[in-house]
Amino acid sequence: MKTALPAVEGGEPVREEFLPFATPSVGEDEIAEVVETLRSGWLTVGPRTKRFEEMIAGYVGVARAAALSSCTAGLHLGMIALGVEEGDEVILPALNFVAGPNCAIHLGATPVLVDVDPETLNVTPEILAAAITERTKLIVPVHYGGRPIDIDGIMEVARSRGIPVLGDAAHALGSDYGGRKVGSVADATSFSFYVTKGITTGEGGSLTSPNPDLVERVGVLSLHGMSSGAWNRYSARGSWFYEIHEAGYKYNMNDIQAAIGVHQMKKIDEFRDRREKIARIFDRGLRSEEAISVPSSSESSGHAWHLYPIRLRTQALKVDRDSFIGCLRDEGIGTSVHFIPVHYHDYYSKRLGYKRGSFPVTETFFEHAVSLPIYPSMSDADANDVVEAVTKLLAYYRR
Ligand SMILES: Cc1ncc(COP(=O)(O)O)c(C=O)c1O
Repeated sequence: MKTALPAVEGGEPVREEFLPFATPSVGEDEIAEVVETLRSGWLTVGPRTKRFEEMIAGYVGVARAAALSSCTAGLHLGMIALGVEEGDEVILPALNFVAGPNCAIHLGATPVLVDVDPETLNVTPEILAAAITERTKLIVPVHYGGRPIDIDGIMEVARSRGIPVLGDAAHALGSDYGGRKVGSVADATSFSFYVTKGITTGEGGSLTSPNPDLVERVGVLSLHGMSSGAWNRYSARGSWFYEIHEAGYKYNMNDIQAAIGVHQMKKIDEFRDRREKIARIFDRGLRSEEAISVPSSSESSGHAWHLYPIRLRTQALKVDRDSFIGCLRDEGIGTSVHFIPVHYHDYYSKRLGYKRGSFPVTETFFEHAVSLPIYPSMSDADANDVVEAVTKLLAYYRR
C-alpha cells in the first residue's frame, strides 16, 4: 500500500480547518448568567461565588470549598495553611508546571524535586519516602493529566512521618479514587479552572479540604486576611466593619467568573465522560502502532482525561519529537507538551542545581511526549482525524 504524503512534504493535509489543542465549552447558559451578573450590579465576590463554592464542595464531597483566582493561588495559600515557612523543604514532581515550585520559592522554602513512575507519570509512595528529610514540611503531588495518584499509599507515607499532603489537582476535577473524589482525601487540594481545564471560569481555582477550618482560613487569606468580605460589608444587611487577622493576599474569585463556573459545574460529568470517549477513540486507533505508546489507564482509576500524551519511539522514526509536532500542525492538528521538566528552566537549574539526568523518567518522557487534543467539544470525526494524522505520519516516517 502506498503511504500518503505528509502535508509538510507537499501532500494533502488530513484537515483543512485547524483543530486547536484546546478550546473551552462555554454555552448560552454561561453567557446569559454573565450578562445577568453584569446587570445585577454585583461583580465582585458575592452570591454566585458562594453558590459556586457550594457546588464544588458538594461535588468533591467535603463541607467547604474556597473559590480563588487560580490553582496557583490555592497552592500558595494551601502551603501557608499547611505551615510551610522559610527554610522548609517541599517535595514536588519534576514533571510539573512551575506553579507549585514557584509558590514554595515565594515562601522561602526549597522545592525538592522527585521523579515519577514511568507508567502513571505520578509520584509514588516509594519515591516520596526516599525524598523525605527532617526538613520536609509538605508533599505536593500532581495528578498528572487527570490520573489520580495512589492516595492511600501516599497518605500512609506522609501520615507516618507527620507530613501533610497538598494535592495539585489542576488537571483533576472529576477524577476519583474508586468512589472518593480527588479533593476529599488529601489535607488540601487545589483545582484549576483555567481555560483549557476540566471546567473553566476563564481564570480561576478552588481549594478543598476535609478540614473546613483550613478552608475557612484560606478564604480569609484570599481576601487580605479580612474578617468580613465585600458581600458582608456592602449588601443590605452588611456592616462596614472588618478586622485583619493576618496579612493576606488578593486571591479571591469574583461573581463574573463564578457565573460561568456555576453552569460549567452542572456539566462536569458530561465533560469528563466526553473526554473519556475521545480517549477510547485514540486508544482503539493508536494502541497497535509500534512507534508510539499510548497512556495506560488502570480500569479502577477515575481518570479525568485532561491530557492524552503519546510517547514517540524516536529510534523507530526518521523524525524527532519537535518535527513530529510540526508535521501534525501541517496536517491541521494542534498539540502541546506537558511539561518542560522544572529543572530544565534556567531559573530552577541555577537555583536548585539539579543537572540534566537527575530525573530520567521525567526527562525521557518530556523528550518523547506529544499531548494530543482532547476536549468535550471535539466530535468523533475530530478525534478520528487526530488518529488519521498520527497514523499517516507514523507510516511515512517509519524507519
Ligand atoms: C500541574 C499544574 N499545576 C498548577 C497549574 C496552575 O493553574 P492556574 O493557571 O489555575 O494557576 C497548572 C496550569 O496549567 C498545572 O498544569
